[in-house]
Amino acid sequence: MRYFRMFLRWVMFALCLSFKFANSESAINPIIVQGNRFIDSVTGKPFFVKGVDYQPGGSSEITEERDPLSDPEVCARDISLFQELGINTVRIYSVNPELNHDKCMTMLAVAGIYLVLDVNSPLDNQHLNRYEPWTSYHPLYLEHIFNIIEEFSYYNNTLGFFAGNEIVNDRRSAQYSPPYIKNVIKDMKQFIKLHSPRPIPVGYSAADYLRYRVSLSKYLECCEHGNSASSVDFYGINSYQWCGSQTMESSGYDKLIDTYKSYTKPLIFSEFGCNKVLPRQFEEVSALFSDRMNDVFSGGLVYEFTQEPNNYGLVKINGEGDALLLDDFFQLKKHYTHLDQVGRQQLKVPTRDGNLIFYEQKSKNNIPKNGCPVCLDKYSNLNIDTKVDSDLGVFLIKEGVSNEHGQFVQLEDSELVSKFKIYNGTGEVPEKVKRIEILHDLGIFNDVKDKNRKQAGDNPKTSTGFRLNQNLFAVFMCFMLLISDNILTGIRNLAAFIYHV
Ligand SMILES: *[C@@H]1O[C@H](CO)[C@@H](O)[C@H](O)[C@H]1NC(C)=O
Ligand SMILES: *[C@@H]1O[C@H](CO)[C@@H](O)[C@H](O)[C@H]1NC(C)=O
Repeated sequence: MRYFRMFLRWVMFALCLSFKFANSESAINPIIVQGNRFIDSVTGKPFFVKGVDYQPGGSSEITEERDPLSDPEVCARDISLFQELGINTVRIYSVNPELNHDKCMTMLAVAGIYLVLDVNSPLDNQHLNRYEPWTSYHPLYLEHIFNIIEEFSYYNNTLGFFAGNEIVNDRRSAQYSPPYIKNVIKDMKQFIKLHSPRPIPVGYSAADYLRYRVSLSKYLECCEHGNSASSVDFYGINSYQWCGSQTMESSGYDKLIDTYKSYTKPLIFSEFGCNKVLPRQFEEVSALFSDRMNDVFSGGLVYEFTQEPNNYGLVKINGEGDALLLDDFFQLKKHYTHLDQVGRQQLKVPTRDGNLIFYEQKSKNNIPKNGCPVCLDKYSNLNIDTKVDSDLGVFLIKEGVSNEHGQFVQLEDSELVSKFKIYNGTGEVPEKVKRIEILHDLGIFNDVKDKNRKQAGDNPKTSTGFRLNQNLFAVFMCFMLLISDNILTGIRNLAAFIYHV
């Protein structure tokens, strides 16, 4: 009897706590790599990249003061539009690791959007020189990429890093750079292993030239001396081969499937969206997310969100920072939002953050039993014999770098709303389009249910304190329940607790 009571008490204690803390936090789950799939590390479901490339102003806009994730007002404008488009991932080509990105990364996470981040920039000491990599592979360069990893690996919604983009893109670069790329991948993976709070995939984004299509992907995939340290965790292809109205065969997508069907890592289109036929119809989206393609590819990213001189934009930003949604925006939105609703047998109901969830996980058959293929002596059209001074990173990898860790921060409700105007051709878009919808509250909002308090413009500091006190009080009351003499008192205390909260 005594034990039974004790047991009952503990049960009520647990119930009491779970009652208080249920729904108070909705996390964003890290993505991991398993075989040739991206997997949600908590639900275990495959993750398909449905995204856009995002670098307003182009990479040359990276400065001491700004980059694509440094200005929360710009982020609010664009992230609400990301949600309107129905995406779950953005790729960013360059950031400045000395700037603070907490607010923008929090907004992305709240919106259920992941980031694939390139670690290079056009600035000095921040990229490999593809023709003379030995002049640019040095500690200052490594420090730059480690600083980025040090900051971004602390955000759960960092999906992965690209070690390089299109470094091999002609005969000369293929002559010199391949072993350097592999070495940068190795440095990054070692740094992550020692200094990051979780494993984060390191990939490479390739220009899709037939000369190097097979050889480069195989070379970056392979394990040296049976060791996966320098093997990519995922592989991106920049593919513009589907232009206008095409089929799997006329576009050559069928060849891509053939080439990559036994690749052991996740594959994505790190850029797609040919603009030779305008306006773009984005029919390739249905193909990319078809059963045939999804056996081998895990989705892709449309190049690119903002309109720049090369004319690939979905959205045009004017001098005031106001946004005009272009035809391509609505075309892509049609396809991306359509994906969740129709068609395919194995598609389960979509989650609200736009992930596609599969009933059957075909990919299981594809996961190779014994890890990655052993490196060969030669790869066609590539020179892999250049010796790299691979000790250059040893000190930094061991000692680490001192950049700040990223973290999710508290946001005011008003920060989730675009302060810029957004036009759609006929007029301004409805207000709700300008607001980031909260899909993951991350436990950072004071009280999402109590909408009225938002208007009062409350001070985040005092409200955090309030929240903390409230939680302490709850734990205290639950504890009282646990130690109180009999169940009746317990129930009375519980009633008091509920009444108070
Ligand atoms: C980040 O992911 C970890 C592991 O799944 C989880 O425990 C944590 O709550 C997440 N954090 C946020 C803020 O989403
Ligand atoms: C543009 O916005 C107007 C006003 O909110 C709305 O009536 C119209 O349907 C929108 N057009 C498109 C293409 O979304």
